[in-house]
Amino acid sequence: MKYNYILLADSRFISYAISELRERLSIKDRVKTMALGRGIYLAEIAVEPKVAFEALKLSTFSDGVIPIVDIVERPQSVDELKERVSRCAAKGEPFRIELISLGAKRGVSAKDTEVKIGKEMESLGFTVSLKSPQRIVYIIIGEGISVIASAKSTELADLVVDHFRLENPNHDTVNRAEVKIKEAFAAFKINDAKIENCIDVGASPGGWTNFMVKRGAKVVAIDRGVLEYDKLSTKDVKVIEKVEDYVEGSAVLHMRLNLDEATVFPFKKESYDLLAIDTNTDYIESSKIANALAAYVKHGGFLIMTLKLPKISDAGRLYMVNEALKSEYGVERIKKLHHNRMELTLFARRL
Ligand SMILES: C[S@@+](CC[C@H](N)C(=O)[O-])C[C@H]1O[C@@H](n2cnc3c(N)ncnc32)[C@H](O)[C@@H]1O
Repeated sequence: MKYNYILLADSRFISYAISELRERLSIKDRVKTMALGRGIYLAEIAVEPKVAFEALKLSTFSDGVIPIVDIVERPQSVDELKERVSRCAAKGEPFRIELISLGAKRGVSAKDTEVKIGKEMESLGFTVSLKSPQRIVYIIIGEGISVIASAKSTELADLVVDHFRLENPNHDTVNRAEVKIKEAFAAFKINDAKIENCIDVGASPGGWTNFMVKRGAKVVAIDRGVLEYDKLSTKDVKVIEKVEDYVEGSAVLHMRLNLDEATVFPFKKESYDLLAIDTNTDYIESSKIANALAAYVKHGGFLIMTLKLPKISDAGRLYMVNEALKSEYGVERIKKLHHNRMELTLFARRL
């Protein structure tokens, strides 16, 4: 039996997303897909939703699948949408609507329509909950067809529920990279982890460092480039140019050097909770940096590293990263985050 789904995946990586889906769901046949736009695809898959959710939980290239409830011609009125939505919502099950109009300007939310439908549904006895919905109903208004898809929030656990609105990062960040590390913490489910000390390699201009400082960590930021010191949420910053000048104590110690220039490191062994690497180096080079600093990371401590993909086809060589890291780290997940462009983000723990 075939089931219709919405598949969410960055269009640049869609062929990898489909191969991964086939592999994880053990599908031999071709998976029929149709692009609706902005990384949203219709996919016909011969696997029931429960199995599909489970198998795609840790996927690298897709953000997940949502079962389709209804496919309609462009709806003419809110009343029509309300009628369709009421077929997938149940009274007593708080739900939230996520609506996107693919014809609209990028980043423009369809908030007003969502609110309007929500209010009308409430007047019919349904419960809308923005904060803790038990069900999410997605309304995707495409050029030719519109799609209504829906699933329980628990089934979507690994899917970024706010997928459609992540485009607009909030503005108290140093840069876009800060939003990227924030997303990585959420995706790898480490928001509650205690991180007191970290090393941030490739730290300039300071987005990742700032994220860690805001969480209360002390950061050794390594990069020959400058940090945007004014934008950091601490003034307790010390800048040094030589390894010999290393001294502990400040919230941010900026070591203004390229890691390759250092032959010995002044850090205490097994004392860092997180090693973050966002250097614009090939991922084998980045893995070498991770290995060179492994001794300073606590056992069980985290490694978060971006894997730059100058060519999409580099995504086919990811096994090389696992190979390169396996003596020092256990790789838990590699994920194409929403805010990653031509790169993926790796999460591993020090063995
Ligand atoms: C994408 S930027 C990093 C952005 C940063 N993570 C942030 O949050 O703002 C890449 C940085 O890596 C640095 N880099 C590249 N190779 C490096 C190396 N071997 N050692 C230290 N920094 C390096 C570059 O100087 C550049 O500033």
